[in-house]
Amino acid sequence: MSRLKVAVIVGSAREASLNRLLALTMTRLAKQDIEFDWVRINDLPLFDQDILDRGPPAEVERLKAHIRRADALLFVTPEHNRSISAMLKNAIDWASRPLGASAWAGKPAAIAGASYGRIGTAAAQQHLRAILGCLDVYVMGQPEAFIHLYPGLVTPEGEVTNEETRLFLQRYMDRFESWTRRFLHAASAVQ
Ligand SMILES: Cc1cc2nc3c(=O)[nH]c(=O)nc-3n(C[C@H](O)[C@H](O)[C@H](O)COP(=O)(O)O)c2cc1C
Repeated sequence: MSRLKVAVIVGSAREASLNRLLALTMTRLAKQDIEFDWVRINDLPLFDQDILDRGPPAEVERLKAHIRRADALLFVTPEHNRSISAMLKNAIDWASRPLGASAWAGKPAAIAGASYGRIGTAAAQQHLRAILGCLDVYVMGQPEAFIHLYPGLVTPEGEVTNEETRLFLQRYMDRFESWTRRFLHAASAVQ
């Protein structure tokens, strides 16, 4: 089977980010036939149509190139005031423009998120689903990963200490791989 390229987009640049830790954990649990490309989004300017009209900055071109060469997208989002982080929304907006030249369209994706609270970013993920739907991104419906990342659940190296959670995340990544391959198979069938 061909190797898959998955772009990992984490909505927090915080050094001790729970969501980066969750993303690391998920990538470690995936099968060996997936290559992960971590996408940087914390150096983009705030979206401004005038900047775009003058010619997109190199950081934006880099972001779009990363997205374009990915077979699939893994979003791991924090919840900020019941929505996604401004940094993640900014990156989504940049890569969606100019109109007709979005980097997102047609990509399969999965979304997950972690918080200290039990809500596990459920509200933010609902918003992210709505945003990605309008950009023609095909987000996996189930399973949903609302991770209550209490202290000790995951080691700093991304090892899950609770067997039930480890199995859940492993199944999640297996399902994401099948979801992605279904789209690749469909795309190759119509070529
Ligand atoms: C501006 C802001 C708003 C937040 N709003 C929520 C929220 O609505 N729900 C929630 O569960 N946590 C909320 N939090 C707490 C975050 O879940 C927590 O900071 C988490 O660690 C952020 O993810 P990160 O560690 O990956 O940066 C908020 C944090 C910030 C800074």
